[in-house]
Amino acid sequence: MARLGVNVDHVATIREARKGLQPDPAAAAVLAELGGADGITIHLREDRRHIQDRDLQVLRKTVKTKLNLEAAPTNEMVRIALDVKPDQVTFVPERRQEITTEGGLDVVANRESLAGKIKILREAEIEVSLFIDPDLDQVKASHKLGADAIEIHTGAYAEARPGKARVAQFEKIVNAVKTASRLGLTVHAGHGLDYWNVEPVAALEEIAELNIGHSIVSRAVLVGMERAVAEMKRLLVDARP
Ligand code: PXP
Repeated sequence: MARLGVNVDHVATIREARKGLQPDPAAAAVLAELGGADGITIHLREDRRHIQDRDLQVLRKTVKTKLNLEAAPTNEMVRIALDVKPDQVTFVPERRQEITTEGGLDVVANRESLAGKIKILREAEIEVSLFIDPDLDQVKASHKLGADAIEIHTGAYAEARPGKARVAQFEKIVNAVKTASRLGLTVHAGHGLDYWNVEPVAALEEIAELNIGHSIVSRAVLVGMERAVAEMKRLLVDARP
């Protein structure tokens, strides 16, 4: 079974709609762990549109499983990570106007600036994962840079119409996952995964971790966080009999 990292950003999105205190992503993280989450993921965006610096500090103290910080590969974010020490940093590309992360990192084009940041974090015993499209050049470049893991962007798969288009996107994921695993990289995947499309991805033996946010928080609004996580976890368990 792949580990389930639950992304609680959108609990903070609801809170920030009123700039108040509720709902608290730290409370959601406790319930997610009770529901079976193997890790908690948050994205501290440069514009702080949902998760705030304080959330990261609180979650560092309260998460019992694994805290994965998604962040743009900037000096500011490296400094914050060194200070707060999440278990893992996942570098993601960030554009201010985007609604959510749109594409993977261009590791090939940004080798030099990424290499230094990966080294600094690894020396601080923080695992580094790179969020990339299912593209073999990006997989190989990530391996060369010494990242611990890659996270394969499943957004194009999730958005493709069921049928031929989705099968084609799934094949890209399979190729990238197998290549990364052969190179010795730990393989994660995520983005756009929901209760209807997760199973084929969760069935891939090489995938160690899935990071899922929006679909779980959306379901949690209606059925509660613990149940929403437990229902997703069951799909991950059943995907690998
Ligand atoms: N993985 C990464 C690297 C992401 O940036 C996100 C979105 O913050 C997710 C996973 C979760 O995506 P979703 O909210 O669509 O499940």
